[in-house]
Amino acid sequence: MSANRPSEQLIRDARESDLPEILAIHNDAIAETTAIWDTEPVDLPERLAWWQARTAGGFPVLVAEIDGAVAGYASYGQWRPKSGYRFTVENSVYVADRFHRRGIATALLTELLARAERAGTVHAVIAAIESSNTTSIKLHEKFGFRTVGVLPEVGHKFGEWMGLTLMQLTLGTTELANADHDSVTSRR
Ligand SMILES: CC(C)(COP(=O)(O)OP(=O)(O)OC[C@H]1O[C@@H](n2cnc3c(N)ncnc32)[C@H](O)[C@@H]1OP(=O)(O)O)[C@@H](O)C(=O)NCCC(=O)NCCS
Repeated sequence: MSANRPSEQLIRDARESDLPEILAIHNDAIAETTAIWDTEPVDLPERLAWWQARTAGGFPVLVAEIDGAVAGYASYGQWRPKSGYRFTVENSVYVADRFHRRGIATALLTELLARAERAGTVHAVIAAIESSNTTSIKLHEKFGFRTVGVLPEVGHKFGEWMGLTLMQLTLGTTELANADHDSVTSRR
């Protein structure tokens, strides 16, 4: 790359061939941070199953590509499995250490939220963030997410209790539920 030429950044849908790089970013976050509450690394079949499930469910999995490398990824999926939660998703965003503070998470979240708006099936977006992760809290605040709850001491990693800060962004899709034709239309 020429010193005078800025790096090319491309936000695009993830492909199966991106999964080894996504896996590396994911496992770094497991090993080095409290962003993911696993303690053991995952393997490629786990990431493949995750990507396939997200894609089959119509949910986006995006990557930021810089000079041919996957610099970060972002996705959302249904927040909780019961059907009453079908208009609520939980998002996630991870950027490789060497690409931090270059606006990559911002670019990924911008496109992810645009996808959520366009999908027409997303009313609320939840970010569940370890409470000391002020970087991620600030990032989400930039997009209008607001803290709606804090669960103290619900996790434990690296020998310490972790709290979970729940942030929410409600999209302007209030007509969604009215247009929804499900089998249960009234309650007793
Ligand atoms: C959180 C994370 C995704 C941010 O990625 P990034 O590409 O560095 O973020 P950006 O460069 O787009 O910065 C976005 C905003 O985040 C905040 N931010 C980013 N890095 C920060 C830092 N070191 N300190 C304080 N705020 C920071 C700022 O508000 C920044 O906006 P600004 O540049 O306009 O001030 C990245 O640090 C990361 O992957 N961390 C580990 C995994 C993680 O915590 N994921 C989120 C799980 S909920």
